[in-house]
Amino acid sequence: MPTEADFPANGSDLEKLRFLVNYAVLAPSSHNSQPWLFITHDNHIALHADRTRGLPVADPHDRELVISCGCALFNLRVAAARFGVALHIERNPDDHEDRLANIHIDSEAAPEAALASLFEAIPRRVTNRFPFQPGSVSADDLHAFAEACAAHGISLRSYTDDASRHAIAERIAEADRQQLASDAFRRELASWLHHNRTGSLDGMPGYALGFGDLMSLVAPLVVRTFDIGEGIAARDRDLAEHSPALCVLSTGTDHHEDWIRTGEALQHLLLEATRRGLAAAFLNQPIEIDRLRQDLAHHVGARFPQVLLRLGKPTREAKATARRPAEAVTIDAGLHENYRAFQGF
Ligand SMILES: Cc1cc2nc3c(=O)[nH]c(=O)nc-3n(C[C@H](O)[C@H](O)[C@H](O)COP(=O)(O)O)c2cc1C
Repeated sequence: MPTEADFPANGSDLEKLRFLVNYAVLAPSSHNSQPWLFITHDNHIALHADRTRGLPVADPHDRELVISCGCALFNLRVAAARFGVALHIERNPDDHEDRLANIHIDSEAAPEAALASLFEAIPRRVTNRFPFQPGSVSADDLHAFAEACAAHGISLRSYTDDASRHAIAERIAEADRQQLASDAFRRELASWLHHNRTGSLDGMPGYALGFGDLMSLVAPLVVRTFDIGEGIAARDRDLAEHSPALCVLSTGTDHHEDWIRTGEALQHLLLEATRRGLAAAFLNQPIEIDRLRQDLAHHVGARFPQVLLRLGKPTREAKATARRPAEAVTIDAGLHENYRAFQGF
């Protein structure tokens, strides 16, 4: 990973944009699938969804895949602000099914200065799946998170009272039971789980889920073979009920652009939380099952729930997981065209 001193201040627009990708790739993504590609053109970069990294069982519409790419886009915006670069971004530029954004440098415009202070949080943010300390999220924190989401046109609903957390926790437990009863779901999840000493640059090592070395070795086999739904449901229900805050990000419509903006809002919230000494973990299960998503929507009074998080001050530190480096996900446009033609052949 290059350091801040390596920023090519006197380089071309493309060299600067390529440098910013180093920060984009530190974004979270479902199962750490890192479903993004950065296609370089003469003077700009296009962010593409890499659908070969989709999760057809957990995420059949690639909704979380596009949200993950939105998270990467927001990191890139924060890094641009840090290095004093103004961007011009066209989201969903031509309804192209994979091209999510064209990203240019705009030398006439002012950088998004307000985002620069989030830069330090990019490498420190990790998903923390351990329990959180009771009462560790303040009304001021929740207000800041709602403002962060609103800046992207995304609604945030937060729940801190027992009755609301209980009602949402029941839906999470029901979703766990349904998902883990499916062989296909378990096989897909197991294929992204790795042992703790893995050299893999994607997926989730056992330590990210709180497993020691031995458990991390057997976890993929256990997940693939047994319906562990009841146990996971009980654990997640407990975590949700005792979370200082449960937060739902939602949108009024459910199109590609909503998902990109949800990802940007989500990453904004996560970086703001990191800056405040708080951490987050995902409890998206009820949003991944159509019927339960509708039920949750009705329950919280939101049209389209997109992401469900728990937030708080962690009781234990969580370790970062690996990423594919920027060079591995940055491709020249000419090469990409050949690759697509080959795929279609
Ligand atoms: C859209 C999205 C959905 C996610 N859903 C879940 C989830 O349901 N359960 C979970 O434990 N983690 C979930 N995650 C967290 C990822 O597993 C995590 O970001 C990834 O493993 C990389 O780890 P890191 O966030 O610590 O960098 C999700 C992340 C994103 C961006």
